[in-house]
Amino acid sequence: MPRNKDLKRLVRARMAETGENYTRALTALELRGAMADQIAAPVDLGKDLPDAVLAALRTVPRHLFAPGVPLARAYEDAYTSIVTKRSELGTSLSSVSAPWIVAGMLAQLDVRPGQSVLEIGSGGYQAALLRELVGAEGSVTTVDIDPEVTDRARACLDLAGYGDVRTLCADGEYGAPAHGPFDRIIVAVQARDIPPAWTEQLTPDGRLVAPLLTRGVSRSWELDREDGHLVSRSNGPAGFVPMQGAGKHRGWRLDEAGVRLWSDEPVGVDRAALAAVLATERAEAWSGVTVPRGELITGPDLWLAADPDHCCLKASQDAVDRGLVAATWTMNVPALAARSSLAYRARMRPVDDEGTAYEFGAYGHGPHGAELAERLAGHIRTWDRDHRGGPGPVLTVHPAGTPASDLPGGCVLNRRHTTMVLSWEAAR
Ligand SMILES: C[S@@+](CC[C@H](N)C(=O)[O-])C[C@H]1O[C@@H](n2cnc3c(N)ncnc32)[C@H](O)[C@@H]1O
Repeated sequence: MPRNKDLKRLVRARMAETGENYTRALTALELRGAMADQIAAPVDLGKDLPDAVLAALRTVPRHLFAPGVPLARAYEDAYTSIVTKRSELGTSLSSVSAPWIVAGMLAQLDVRPGQSVLEIGSGGYQAALLRELVGAEGSVTTVDIDPEVTDRARACLDLAGYGDVRTLCADGEYGAPAHGPFDRIIVAVQARDIPPAWTEQLTPDGRLVAPLLTRGVSRSWELDREDGHLVSRSNGPAGFVPMQGAGKHRGWRLDEAGVRLWSDEPVGVDRAALAAVLATERAEAWSGVTVPRGELITGPDLWLAADPDHCCLKASQDAVDRGLVAATWTMNVPALAARSSLAYRARMRPVDDEGTAYEFGAYGHGPHGAELAERLAGHIRTWDRDHRGGPGPVLTVHPAGTPASDLPGGCVLNRRHTTMVLSWEAAR
């Protein structure tokens, strides 16, 4: 928290800007400080958090970008987004992003004062953080496909004192051609490809940060130009609402009895056979690889996604309660689906009574379930032996149609506009 004198000054400034009374302005400031402290604590953002990002998190009044949401709710949980719009089916269409994901992506973006930044997918909150980072000499443009979102973002930005952030209603697939080029572009909506406009509208030494799907796994990548393609050597947590417009991706999906299998790529399985497979006898394979209590268990996720049969499993609480699945958690559980069989990462198994560490394992169902479960456990062993604690994969993004001989070795993902390759160097 700021010192007492600074606090009073900040509270008065906030009251003048927003018309809030003293108590509300002070409470918001305190809550925001606590939220920033939560993010500053060592969580796996994939990067160190720059002081400027932390200062911006302490400054921008997040609650003003979530009208109608109780003040405490706007700050109490740095790990959760606030959904602001849903489809008729209940799918999230727009949200105020989770602060720790925003913080990690801003760390990747490395914004400098005076720069020109484009945000794709608005809401106002992150645009305000960006405005804090570029300062008065810089500029921020934010584009959203939904006029309801841009209208709300405009009103919230004005109320919070960020009237000079430019809001545009358009399909972000095409960037903001009239206002580029940009030193930085940040994508705040789930993409699976890099459309040409994003690279064309970047300055020669500009950086693009985007959450990309790789066989169902969403990670945020920091992409720089290198020898005619884009390269990212860092990835961080990401999870966003799906892209609409020209970049919309339908993917592959199978819903059955409260369990969803999905991927952004086609999955080569016998759908009818797979639909009933979870009810069949369960095979188990344990990897011998453990993680200490409290450590994230997502380490092997990108390595598992390199398997061509990889997809993700999501289970309803009801399916878990009925004992149909015993997964690590209910969302985005790594799975392998092939022919008429399925394996998925099992709920972690404690190695002792105190639960000091937990072991990775896999459950399999169907005629090839045991084989698939063993394959998944084997991938985790390889990750543990060769890549754990290493730099993680490098993502390179090449124009679509680049001959295989010009691509690096690794997992190749063909997209409409690009060919992406995930390559691993062994941990030293
Ligand atoms: C997670 S929200 C963005 C959150 C926001 N940046 C914040 O400050 O918290 C994602 C937004 O992307 C928008 N969106 C979806 N497809 C888009 C597209 N093709 N172009 C621009 N915006 C898009 C949605 O309407 C939604 O408002």
